[in-house]
Amino acid sequence: MYELKNATALKGEIEIPGDKSISHRAVMFGSISKGTTRVQHFLNGADCLSTISCFRKMGIDIDQNGQEVIIHGNGLHGLSAPSEILDTGNSGTTTRLISGILSAQPFTCTLNGDASIQKRPMKRIITPLSMMGADIVSERGNDCAPLRITGAPLSGIHYDSPVASAQVKSAILLAGLYAEGETSVTEPSVSRDHTELMLKAFGADVATKDTTATIKSCSELYASDILVPGDISSAAYFLVAGSIMKQGEILIRNVGINPTRAGILTVLLSMGADIREVRRYNGTEPAADLLVRPASLRGVTVEGDVIPRLIDEIPVLAVAAAMAEGTTVIRDAAELKVKESDRIESVTKMLRHFGADITPTEDGMIIQGTGTLSYDGKGPIESYKDHRIAMSAAIAALAADTPVPIDDFSCVDISFPSFASLLEQLAK
Ligand code: S3P
Repeated sequence: MYELKNATALKGEIEIPGDKSISHRAVMFGSISKGTTRVQHFLNGADCLSTISCFRKMGIDIDQNGQEVIIHGNGLHGLSAPSEILDTGNSGTTTRLISGILSAQPFTCTLNGDASIQKRPMKRIITPLSMMGADIVSERGNDCAPLRITGAPLSGIHYDSPVASAQVKSAILLAGLYAEGETSVTEPSVSRDHTELMLKAFGADVATKDTTATIKSCSELYASDILVPGDISSAAYFLVAGSIMKQGEILIRNVGINPTRAGILTVLLSMGADIREVRRYNGTEPAADLLVRPASLRGVTVEGDVIPRLIDEIPVLAVAAAMAEGTTVIRDAAELKVKESDRIESVTKMLRHFGADITPTEDGMIIQGTGTLSYDGKGPIESYKDHRIAMSAAIAALAADTPVPIDDFSCVDISFPSFASLLEQLAK
């Protein structure tokens, strides 16, 4: 249980922990490369630790010292058969991406995770990977984990993905490293491209054109050092908090602003947010220092191609919408239903505790902004053990007029273990 004291302003400077998507990929790609990969500003969240543990079980030597991780890769064909189940915890990214790699290994193994993972749809990767020749069995026959994967010779395919999902795209591209010929994926809209950018840095032949990513069969990947930028999905809580508070100013250092991830910036700016880029860092992944000040927000329609670019930020965007003036419509976001919780339902229930006028729809939600939130006092706020719901509730609680208890708050450790201490550091 977590209870945040009220604050009248958020003021100060913070650094956001490393990007979750990029941290996962650094461990995975480092493990299947030749040589030593040094990862800096690695996210020590539970999800990324699940990825480390899976690769250690496949014989990869990984040293971890705080935010520095050193991976002693054994090359593309250097994994060994694990002697136990690979536990992916709460992590959809670990489960789906690793399946692409396991599809081509000369052994059988079983992947499983927590209660949430065992409900998340895996058919979306089983279908294309099976088309490539993979042998993947959902042990309970429900297209969910546990998955038993037996490596097989793979052939390249072209796949028209029905969903814009970086996890699906990445699983196919990773299998494509091992497959004969060329493998390509076309998505309905572009999803985050961290896999494509990082695989290129490790020497793979990857190309992107419009919404299609293509990879050629690869004989070896080579280690590459990775500096992980701050996670924009984590920064989003402070971008919204800094906007809806009446006073203060937050400088958020080193936030990853890859255009395939930065939809939250586009949308908050269109709502009237006062967010300025004060310094830019140009690496494989672009990053910036962002300065956020309070602003009067207005409702907007959020739909189409921007949705995959801000899918994880919708819970906290809904908090901003409730604090805005006018109507916000979020549509084309049915993917919310298959995240760590059904986020259409969990966001609706959470925000109703704060008196928000929110109507769930089949593919999103409609929020009539009232410019205020106040806690109804009806028991603790349920986080549904979903880290993004817990943190969004904490931001809504800031705007409310009494301290608000939030249940199972420790789930924030999945992606942002230092969230509460940073919030308390800024609260005045
Ligand atoms: C992720 C992709 C997204 C996102 C998830 C991380 C990734 O999922 O929601 O938190 O690292 O590839 P989908 O691929 O299911 O959209």
